[in-house]
Amino acid sequence: MNDRNLGPYQEDRVYQGDATRLIRDLPDSAIDLLVTDPPFAIDFRAQRLNYNRTGSNVLEGYQEIAGDEYESFTREWMSEAYRVLSPSGSMYVFSGWNHLKDILGGLDGVGFTTQNHLIWKYQFGVFTKKKYVTSHYHVLFVVKDPKRYTFNKVEHYPEDVWDIKREYWKGRKKTPTKLPSEIVRKILRFSSNPGDIVLDPFLGSGTVAVTAKEMGRHFIGFEVVEDYLSFANERLSGTVWNSYTGNG
Ligand SMILES: C[S@@+](CC[C@H](N)C(=O)[O-])C[C@H]1O[C@@H](n2cnc3c(N)ncnc32)[C@H](O)[C@@H]1O
Repeated sequence: MNDRNLGPYQEDRVYQGDATRLIRDLPDSAIDLLVTDPPFAIDFRAQRLNYNRTGSNVLEGYQEIAGDEYESFTREWMSEAYRVLSPSGSMYVFSGWNHLKDILGGLDGVGFTTQNHLIWKYQFGVFTKKKYVTSHYHVLFVVKDPKRYTFNKVEHYPEDVWDIKREYWKGRKKTPTKLPSEIVRKILRFSSNPGDIVLDPFLGSGTVAVTAKEMGRHFIGFEVVEDYLSFANERLSGTVWNSYTGNG
């Protein structure tokens, strides 16, 4: 029996559409934790050439945001994220360095308090000529109320640099970007409890929802690309390989 008010949505479901619109229908304070890897303002099609992948396995349609719209796009979804988070809620936002200033400005601007600026270090075998290979993401851990938020004692001295490998789905259907389950598991262990509800408004292949489900958390997710949403639903129903359980 679900006594949580999610407006027109149901827990443990993912929805197709523009997150900046769909999130408006979520009631205030409905969400315990928001974990998201929003689209980046880079030309992802060019980037994709750098990936060691068979193009035909990559689902088409990845939605990018134009660089000059990124600041307003960021501000739009973040102010809604602030509204829908419970007073003791927290949020993790992944960002490349390119438009980090928009992400940081948005977080401050809508009222979040930054608790940590985490660095996710990953391996990336791309050739560069006159600069360094980018092998990290920024992960902003922010809260509404620094005096009251969930932070479980999972490790004694949790550090802010996380060395976690990307997962490659060789020969399997996939979306062009995907968070490793391990990093999402770590976030959920520290910043949520069983039964909490976790939102990812930019779901992609559904890693946040799939991991939440596996860990006994409730989830809700939005994704604009229909094929990605179907793929996320396949993962949720266990009909495709799932990295956490190692099936298939
Ligand atoms: C970086 S990917 C997320 C990857 C995801 N964390 C995973 O593990 O698969 C960002 C996603 O946001 C989606 N997207 C872009 N604009 C959107 C919008 N306005 N509303 C909802 N989804 C959007 C893209 O299609 C893409 O799948």
